[in-house]
Amino acid sequence: MTIPRLRGAALATAGLLAAGALVAPGPASAAPGNPGAPRFSPGAPSIGDLYFPDQGNGGYDVQHYDLDFSYDPATRFMDATATITARATQDLDQFNLDFRGPEISSLTVNGKKNDFTRDGQELIVTPRPKPKTGQMFTVVVKYAGIPGPVTDPDGSIEGWIPTDDGAFVVGEPQGTPAWLPSNDTPTDKATFRFTAKVPEGLTAVGNGQLLSQQTTDGWTTYVWDNTEPMATYLATITIGRFVVTESVTPSGVPSYVAIDPRLVTGSANAVSQIPKMMEFFTGLFGPYPFASTGAIVDYAPQVGYALETQTKPIFSNTASVGTMAHEIAHQWYGNSVSPERWKDIWLNEGFATYGQWMYTEYNGGATVQATFNSSSNYGRAASSSFWQIVLADPGPMDMFSSIPYNRGAMTLHALRGKVGEETFLRILRQWAEIHKYSHAATTDFIGLAERESGQDLTAFFDVWLFQKGKPTSW
Ligand code: TRP
Ligand code: ZN
Repeated sequence: MTIPRLRGAALATAGLLAAGALVAPGPASAAPGNPGAPRFSPGAPSIGDLYFPDQGNGGYDVQHYDLDFSYDPATRFMDATATITARATQDLDQFNLDFRGPEISSLTVNGKKNDFTRDGQELIVTPRPKPKTGQMFTVVVKYAGIPGPVTDPDGSIEGWIPTDDGAFVVGEPQGTPAWLPSNDTPTDKATFRFTAKVPEGLTAVGNGQLLSQQTTDGWTTYVWDNTEPMATYLATITIGRFVVTESVTPSGVPSYVAIDPRLVTGSANAVSQIPKMMEFFTGLFGPYPFASTGAIVDYAPQVGYALETQTKPIFSNTASVGTMAHEIAHQWYGNSVSPERWKDIWLNEGFATYGQWMYTEYNGGATVQATFNSSSNYGRAASSSFWQIVLADPGPMDMFSSIPYNRGAMTLHALRGKVGEETFLRILRQWAEIHKYSHAATTDFIGLAERESGQDLTAFFDVWLFQKGKPTSW
């Protein structure tokens, strides 16, 4: 799904041209001297992200994912039908999806049985008849078997992670193809619907709003509707035994909170502050971008991190107040505005961490300035390895280290000092508004900060984002 940008449209076009130039033109089937005729070629097998070279594909733009499946935690067996609705962005004689899931029993394009091959994460489809530029097409993939986790370069796991009572489902940065054939890039957002059938007594919790819940013959089917564009890495349909609490925030946003019974007591404080966080961040960042909120607190201690899954952040153990604030802040920065490339990860983690610092101050804890100064932040010695990584391109091993989080937040705090309180808040709000439901890169942020402040910030961003070493003047 492509959301038109209010500004930066010229940049977006330039990006498309550059990406297209990387793709070797396929054999043209148009007759010479007939420029209007279709020129079919394969869509690119990758989006060109250097951190995860297999991720994403070209030639089409997904509008909607519909996944209808059953899952039995006792056998870990999934039986699924995925329906992907996409628009061709070129005359296509072949395209790829990203998929690492279980065995495919059939694949159709526009209702016709279709050949496909699999090669690692690539599911390669040769549609007949071939979609032409601008045409919508529908791919239906039926598959069944045991989905599993994906391991990242930094050793962390995501994807489909079985738990003692279900499955913990997260996808950042590359886990969603473990269970859903998809265009796994934050630059192709889509709406999602999950229909999940699980043994009675278990709950399947997905992004967005619960449309229905029905039990027959010992199985309960949950239908979840995520109505705003979402990056694939933010999808979840987590399954387990949960205590569910539904409510509405003071601003009227429906909230659905599911907590593993073992973690209810320990997570009560964090969960009870969701409404206050929603109000605080709405006041600071602008309108909340989604139709619902909530949280999933599951017991998957082998995962060891929380994730800002869209509309409902997910925790792999007891939720803390600080992490809850971080994940709620991500709904604006990370989820509605996603990184164009993974090297831009500080735009996610620095912003969410800064939101967390601001909430801590608002909530009567340490001031943002004190947090900035502390020994885990600016107080780190200049000799620390913490300063030896380039924030604007930390590499896949440091995507989720303290570099994008803490140095990212410090960069925003330094910017606040540089441009002043009012301009800084305007920059934060504009960032959320201009790139709502879309994606953006570090250069877009620098451009916005310079426009809003009227300052040349080259030297500022150079020391904070592009150079190694502890910034001493800016
Ligand atoms: N983005 C998550 C957060 O900040 C953290 C996260 C996602 C993560 N994937 C990860 C951390 C992999 C370590 C490893 O809440
Ligand atoms: Zn984060």
